[in-house]
Order: sequence, then structure tokens, then C-alpha cells
Amino acid sequence: MADQHLVNRRDFVKTAGGAVAATSLLGSDAFAQTPAGRRRYAIIGTGDRASGMWGRPIRERYSDVLEFVGICDPNSKRVAAAKELMGVSCPTFTNFDEMCNTVKPDLLMVTTVDAFHSEYIVKGLDRGYDVMTEKPMVIDEKQCQAVLDAEKRNKKKIVVTFNYRFAPKHRTVKEILMSNEIGRVVSVDFSWYLDVYHGADYFRRWHRLKNRGGSLWVHKATHHFDLMNWWLGADPVEVQADASLQIYGKNGKFRAANCRQCNYKKDCRFYYDINTNPTRMKLYVGPETEDNYYRDGCVFREDCDIYDSMQAVVRYSNGATMSYSLNAAMPFEGYRVAFNGEFGRLEVRDHERQPWEVPESDATEVYVTKSFGLRRRVPIVQGEGGHGGGDDNLRDQIFRRTPAPDHMRLPDSRAGAMSCLTGIAARKSVEEKRPVKISELVKL
Ligand SMILES: NC(=O)c1ccc[n+]([C@@H]2O[C@H](COP(=O)([O-])OP(=O)(O)OC[C@H]3O[C@@H](n4cnc5c(N)ncnc54)[C@H](O)[C@@H]3O)[C@@H](O)[C@H]2O)c1
Repeated sequence: MADQHLVNRRDFVKTAGGAVAATSLLGSDAFAQTPAGRRRYAIIGTGDRASGMWGRPIRERYSDVLEFVGICDPNSKRVAAAKELMGVSCPTFTNFDEMCNTVKPDLLMVTTVDAFHSEYIVKGLDRGYDVMTEKPMVIDEKQCQAVLDAEKRNKKKIVVTFNYRFAPKHRTVKEILMSNEIGRVVSVDFSWYLDVYHGADYFRRWHRLKNRGGSLWVHKATHHFDLMNWWLGADPVEVQADASLQIYGKNGKFRAANCRQCNYKKDCRFYYDINTNPTRMKLYVGPETEDNYYRDGCVFREDCDIYDSMQAVVRYSNGATMSYSLNAAMPFEGYRVAFNGEFGRLEVRDHERQPWEVPESDATEVYVTKSFGLRRRVPIVQGEGGHGGGDDNLRDQIFRRTPAPDHMRLPDSRAGAMSCLTGIAARKSVEEKRPVKISELVKL
């Protein structure tokens, strides 16, 4: 009963399952063209994601529908470097309000450090802009409530750019589940593997601090929890979790501020030579004198307060349960997910990177095994480009408004909230050593 104000399954299925999404940016007035036919587009937070996903490719492919009017970052050197990398000619700013007052955007992209998303989402909504934000939407329940309240007060809907949903392989999984081939899903086993390159990278940067990225429970797992909410067409209800820091942070035998200044370069298996990456030298090393943001920070810094080994059990509104794990120091990268249904099991093994040969045709293996029946292999068409083709599909849907079936509508704040809240509940469960109900956290 306690969950009822939050988990109204019928409403949720409408949104997450995609039956009705009339208020998403797609197909709503929120994305109406300006008289000149081009949106006035601004970005806050101009690091790698802004430059690489929401900067240069946007200028190259969507200039007929968008005009860059301003980009902003507190680091004046980084915003100048990003301007060059994006190849745009708009003015740069170090103050968000000044940018807004000067160039009056109507579409805002939020790509800052996670902890600051909510501040700019709320400001953007209160100024009447259409707002898109990178994941995670927020890092704690207070920020979550602030975003949901700002939407209500402004009668607007944001878009949370969950690119993973838009990879063809993930859409195939969704469509198998929708087809009812395995029937009602009873339970799920989901393990995500971050390897010693990608996983370690989170420990080099601000992500290593809970008050910046909310821990990997939020920063990274929000992707996985969003996929699961969408795949199941259900809400998380309760989370019980455990986690520890086993490899990075205080576990190191030596440390420095960053790899360039380190005396243990030869001994450290996580040594990273940023000099080999000209883009990162420009975007991070040049500007670091302004904010001490080391892109090659030491993975063993003692202030690291997040986890690298995480396990959770999540209970959903449709009665299914999921056992989930996320490990950030694995020898290979990818995931396994299996849905146990009343009529069979759907299994996925995704290979992203591993120290052995995997033929292209086996990069994502998907099988459906029917109870009392046979197993079939599901053919998967791999998408091109970033995140299994998800990045391009998502951008086209946002900016070209490519037609999409209901279950492929753009993710909204509810999706952003439910996925973050799963991680926030997991973090709380670890800290408070108890199961945490999602309904304790926010009022929808
Ligand atoms: N969807 C995906 O697959 C994906 C991939 C990578 C990153 N991301 C998300 O994109 C966002 C940016 O990630 P990134 O890798 O570019 O990080 P980054 O560290 O390269 O960039 C973050 C930027 O935010 C700026 N910043 C710091 N404090 C700020 C403040 N108070 N106000 C405004 N800006 C501030 C920093 O100067 C920096 O330029 C993150 O939220 C991350 O989760 C998403």
C-alpha cells in the first residue's frame, strides 16, 4: 500500500511501455520549429560528451534544424577548446545565466558533471526552454523531486538521453518480451562487466566521488536500470543491495595525484599516458590549471568513496525480481542478461571487448528457449556508431523527429527518475544496511 502513490502500474506502463507519450518532445508542441525553422541550441558543460556527442556531430548533421547560439562551462579554457573541437562559431560563456540572458536559447542540452544536472534542468525549465539532459538525470532524491516539481510547475517534459534503448539489439530484446514468447517475466539475472580500462576510467575522475556522480549505482547503473524498467514495462518497488571497494582507491599500494606526476609509472598496471590522446590533451590537460581536473587522475586516490563491486536484488511492480551485479575491474567488457518467463527463458550475452576473438556475428548472442520446447537463436542486426548504434538513432529521433513506434518514444523524466531512484535506493541500502522502498524517496 505504501507504494501506491508512486507506483501506479497502469500509468507507468503507459509511459515506459510506450502506449501513450503525448507529452514527450516528439510530436508535441515542445519541439515546434522556430519561425526561421531552426532551434536556438545551447549547451551547459562542455567536456567530452558535449563535444563528441552533442557538439560536432550535431553541427555536421543537423545545422538545417539547429543553430548553436551558446556553449557554457565554468572552465574558460575548456569551453574554448570545446568550441574548436565542435567547430562552432557561437559565443562561449562561463556563467549560465549570462549565456541565457545574452543568447536566449530555446533548446538546452545539459552535459555537466552529474551532480549539477538538476540545477540546470530546473533553471532551463523555469526559463521556458525545452531541456534535454544526459544521464543520470539526478544523483539524489532531493534533486529528483526538484526536477519533477519544475516540470509540473512549467507544464513541460524533459528528455533524458538514454541512448542504450536505441541500440537495435536492445530494441530486439524489448520486442521479444512484448511478443509474449516467454510469457510473464518472473525473474531476471543481469550482470554488467566494466573492464580494467573502461571501469578504471571512472576512478580517475569526479565519478569516484559520491557527491559528484552518485556512485556507479547511479552514474553507470542508471543505464542498466532504465533498460530493465523499459524492457519489463514495470516500476522498481524495493531494492536491497551490498557493495564494496576492492580494487581502486585506498586499495592501491602507491598513489599520486595523476599519472603524469607519478613515480610508479612502471609498476602501476593502471598507468594511463594521456599524452597519446591529442583531443584529451586539448580538452583537459590544457584547461586543468583552472580547476585541477586531472583526466589522468590516479585510480588509487584515497578520497574515492564509491564502490567497484556491487550486487542488488530489485523487486518490480509486476512481481518480477532481478538479481543485478556491476563490477568495474573485469578482464572483459560486456553483459549478460536472462529473463526467466512462465513459458521460457530469453538470454543475452553481449561482448564489447575481451582478450579473445569474438566473430562479429557473435558480438551479441540472443537465445530463446521454450519450456518443454526448443531453443532458437535470434538474429541481431548490429547498429553502427557509438553505443551499438544507439547514439545516432537517438539523435535522429530528437532532431529529425524520425517516426517511431510507441515503445521507442523518447525517454522522459519518469524514466530518468525511476532508473536513478533504483540506484539511489541501492546506495542507501548499502549505507543503511536495509531494504529501501522507492516510495520512501520521492512523490511523483
Ligand atoms: N549516455 C552516455 O552514454 C554518456 C557517455 C558519457 C558521458 N555521459 C554523461 O555526460 C555528462 C558529461 O560527461 P563527460 O564525460 O563529458 O564529463 P566531463 O568531465 O568530460 O565534462 C563535464 C563538464 O562539466 C563541467 N562542470 C563542472 N562543474 C560544473 C558546474 N558546476 N556547472 C556546469 N558545468 C560544470 C566540467 O568543467 C566539464 O567540462 C555526464 O553527466 C555523463 O554521465 C553520458
